[in-house]
Formats: sequence, structure tokens, C-alpha cells
Amino acid sequence: MPEQTLTAGNEAAARKPEKAGLEGIVAATTSISNVDGQAGRLVYRGYDIHDLAHSTTFEEIAYLLWFGHLPTRSELANLQARLLEQRHLSANLLAILRNLPQDTAPMDVLRTVVSAWGMYANVQGQPTIEQAIALTARFPLILATFHRLRQGLEVLEPRADLGYTANYLYLLTGKEPGAEHIKGLDAYLVMLADHSMNASTFTARIVASTASDLASAVVAAISALKGPLHGGAADKAQEMLTAIGTAENAEPWIRATLTSGGRLMGFGHRAYKTTDPRAEELREMARHADPVGFAFARRVEELAVSILAEIKPGRRLYTNVDFYSAVLLSSVGIPIDLFTPTFGVARVVGWTAHILEQSANNRLIRPLAEYTGPDRQTFVALDQR
Ligand code: ACO
Repeated sequence: MPEQTLTAGNEAAARKPEKAGLEGIVAATTSISNVDGQAGRLVYRGYDIHDLAHSTTFEEIAYLLWFGHLPTRSELANLQARLLEQRHLSANLLAILRNLPQDTAPMDVLRTVVSAWGMYANVQGQPTIEQAIALTARFPLILATFHRLRQGLEVLEPRADLGYTANYLYLLTGKEPGAEHIKGLDAYLVMLADHSMNASTFTARIVASTASDLASAVVAAISALKGPLHGGAADKAQEMLTAIGTAENAEPWIRATLTSGGRLMGFGHRAYKTTDPRAEELREMARHADPVGFAFARRVEELAVSILAEIKPGRRLYTNVDFYSAVLLSSVGIPIDLFTPTFGVARVVGWTAHILEQSANNRLIRPLAEYTGPDRQTFVALDQR
């Protein structure tokens, strides 16, 4: 009987509530960013992402998201100096990184080392902007240090003469990064820095709402970002392009995947019912950064959008941010398994801005569930079952 009981329980639980996945539910108020999914519009504190993508730096955007306005030159210099002060890893964190198995997935490395940072830095109590800056400064160092170590290479000292993005590329590759690569990756980080109530940001806000600490909230957010329905789609989109292989194979591959119930990675979005504006920007960047990779990805995109419209009519499935991210990140030299962690390098700014916003005006986030289990069962003791 126990197996039948378990099956019956799962069937009941599998009935979806009216708003499955909290679709359309407003879970918070925020002044940080907004997504208009019908119009394909994303704003950070009222500024359109198309205006910000190529005319600002990631550090300016961090200032905007954390402090609420675009910085003056001296405000920006001050934030850059504060980030630079924190551009180091303690001996404790380096020891952990040196002892991790070389084949550990970098998202797991990030989650583990951020958790250890919270413990060693004794991150407790009300989240602070100092903690947000300290953690943001360390994200690229954690990933680049692990990437060097797993290749058997010596860990490099962070460079104080390089900006945030240039230093990340330098630490990863050991080479002075070119201006085009710095600009491309910086624009990517700008566009991925925040995105309203996405799954990982919501996760971060739930943890912050319990009056837990900033490091714990970010560890939870990293865990949510990792999933392939969220940020984990970045490397899955690249794997999909590799699996398709040639333009001729694209149509049969897409049809076979969809008819067998599979999903196309880098397509579809809960909020956007048109092309994601970040995908539009990344598409143009990919066109210039890697014309050959772009031509193939563009062909796959055109076919995918038209076959999705045929096989899934009315669902309005278009390219999301993760599709052309794959082409762009490859072109600037980011290894495929660092795509999603690099998404995290951008999003830690948004997460921490939301954690600060949540804790400044907090109420515990504690929704309800519709109970679908049996009611009023007669209890039978173990020795009589
Ligand atoms: N490929 C094929 N079919 C899809 C896709 C896709 N990428 N996305 C949605 N659909 C279909 C579903 O099968 C479903 O069809 P049905 O009505 O016949 O059951 C319908 O469209 C609605 O899909 P849902 O899963 O209900 O849509 P939801 O809003 O819950 O999901 C999500 C959004 C998870 C992003 C989805 O589009 C998906 O799985 N995409 C692929 C993974 C991906 O690219 N994730 C990155 C998202 S962007 C980001 O987080 C950074």
C-alpha cells in the first residue's frame, strides 16, 4: 500500500494551482528595474536598457542600481575605489579553492565559496551596502582563481590598474584583454545586472525577508540561477548550437526536439511575449564579434522562431537573453562552463540591490498553498497497519 499512497499523493500535488508558477502575481514593490513583457522593454530605475547598454560601464550601473541615480564622476570614482579595496581573496578562501576537485562545476564553486565568505567575514544582521560591494568585488576573483587552478596554472594577483571587467578577463586568461573584449563583456554585464522579479532575485528577497544575512540570500540566489530554466540556459544554448552543428541540420534537429517534447534553450520567457530587448542588443554585438558564429546562430534563431510558432501556436516564443549570450561570451574568451557563473557576476549587483531594498522595508514573504491532500483521515497506529 505505501507505493499506491505515494502515487496518489503525487497526483494530487501535480494538479497545478490557477496561477501556476505565480504567473502574473505581484510579489513585491521595487524601484530598481521594470520589465514590460508585451512591449519588450526593460528599464533600470527608469532608464531604457537600449540607452544604457553601450553608453555606461558596469560600475556605473552598479551605482545606479544600489544608490538609485546615475553617478557623477566623483561618485563613480568613489565606488570604484571601494570595489578596488575589496579586490582580494583571504587565505581561507584561497585554501578552499585550492582544495576543491578540479572537475567541480563552477556554479557549485561560486555557491560554496560565497557561503564560506559569509562565514569567514562574519556577515550577519541587517544587509549593508559595504557587504554588497565586498561580495561583488570578489565574484570575478572566485571564478578566475578556480579556472586557473583547475588548469594547473598559478593564481594571478588582481590588477589595481584595470577596471572591474578588464580585471576579470585578465585573471581568467593571464593576458592583457583587448578593448573590444572589455567593451563586449562590460555591455553584457550591464544588460544582465538586474531583471525585476526573476526566480533568483525572488529567491534572494525571500531569504532577506526572513531577516537572514546577505551572504545567505546570495547563496540561495546562486542556487536558483543555476537551473537550466533560468541562468543555466546560457551554456545549454551553446550546447544546443554545438549539437545542431550545421545550418542544414538545424530544421530536422529543431523539429525532432520539439516533437519529442524537448525545449529549445535560449527561447521563451515568462515575462517577454516578444523578443527580449537584451537579446536584440546581444544579437547585434554577436554580429560584429563573431560573424561566422553569428550567421549560424541567426539561422537557428529564424528557424526556431518559425517552427515554434507552427508547433506551439499562440505561445509567443522568441529568443531570450541566453541565446546570443552564448555567442558573445565565447567570442570574448569565456569558457562555456563559466557562462552561467558570469551571468552571476552581473546579477550579484541586482540581487544585492533587491536584498537591500527588501530589508529596508521588510515584511516576511510567506504565501499560501492550496492543499490537495486527503482530509480527516482516521489514524491507525504502526503495529495495526
Ligand atoms: N522550447 C519549446 N517549447 C517551449 C519553450 C522552449 N524554449 N518555452 C516554452 N515552451 C512551450 C511549453 O512547452 C508550453 O507549451 P504547452 O502550452 O504546449 O504546454 C508553453 O510554451 C508555455 O511554456 P511554460 O513552461 O508554461 O512557460 P513558462 O513561462 O513557465 O517558462 C521558460 C518560461 C522556463 C523560460 C521556458 O520558456 C523555457 O523553458 N525556456 C527554455 C529555457 C531557457 O531558455 N531559459 C532561460 C530563460 S531567460 C533567463 O532566465 C535568464
